[in-house]
Amino acid sequence: MPPTTKHLQTSISRTGKDYAELHAWINDPDQQLDRHDFTKIIDFAPEIQAKFGPEGLREYIEHLREDLDSKFTKIWGKDVATRDEALDYYGIRRRGRDYTLDMADIKLLQDADMSAEDLDHSLKVAGRALDIARRVVSGSGTQVDMELVGRGALFHDLGKAKTHAIEHGLLGAEMGKALGLPDTINVIMEKHIRGGLTAAEATELGLPVKDYTLHKLEERIIIYADRLVDIIYDGLVKVDGAADAEQRFEDILNNEIKYGKNDITRERYFGYHREIQALMGH
Ligand SMILES: [Fe+2]
Ligand SMILES: [Fe+2]
Repeated sequence: MPPTTKHLQTSISRTGKDYAELHAWINDPDQQLDRHDFTKIIDFAPEIQAKFGPEGLREYIEHLREDLDSKFTKIWGKDVATRDEALDYYGIRRRGRDYTLDMADIKLLQDADMSAEDLDHSLKVAGRALDIARRVVSGSGTQVDMELVGRGALFHDLGKAKTHAIEHGLLGAEMGKALGLPDTINVIMEKHIRGGLTAAEATELGLPVKDYTLHKLEERIIIYADRLVDIIYDGLVKVDGAADAEQRFEDILNNEIKYGKNDITRERYFGYHREIQALMGH
């Protein structure tokens, strides 16, 4: 069973709240066998819903799902195909539907020695990106690869385990390759610096000149989420949650040099913001 701290982190990434009281209740040493029993979900549901609301009830089920996920991974860690088939069968992986962060990925970041602060940022970006992606799907019916959004966002700052300098994109992609992560994720690490550099910007920053364009909507969603998470949590600008940050996005970038950087970078972020807001039906 994953330690409670992981449940708190994934709850934050999904809902913005840690649901600490709920996870402590589920893991109560005297009761945890009962409270992890799938056949008893129906008995506990009314009590949990009354206390923590429908979102809390969902977090309860997510807690059990994450535990199953981690147990399956342990049991069938080496036989990935069998494991994935079983996870799909029980709705634990939800391929092709929604996507929830994989505990094994979070462990990869921890094992890469990512700091708690950077991991927290990564979880927040993943949660925000998945939220935006779901709204894009419901607002426009556009097909979005939710797994790429979730995993790409979770890993975008992997390179920060080694350096916080501008090279963290490049380094992250190398680390991702060494870890065997898919190239679709490695290029996100490489391209996320300032939301996709032009050749002139790459030269100016001393980075290799190549195509940093964010060709995929999934990539643009992640970069938009990354920018929003900084705005929401840096404390540099006073914002009232995600909706407020989205609403005032252009104003904030126009007024805060840290977020706007320069005309080219700012216009690029505006492009993602306008495109994605339109897809969400705003
Ligand atoms: Fe970054
Ligand atoms: Fe980031």
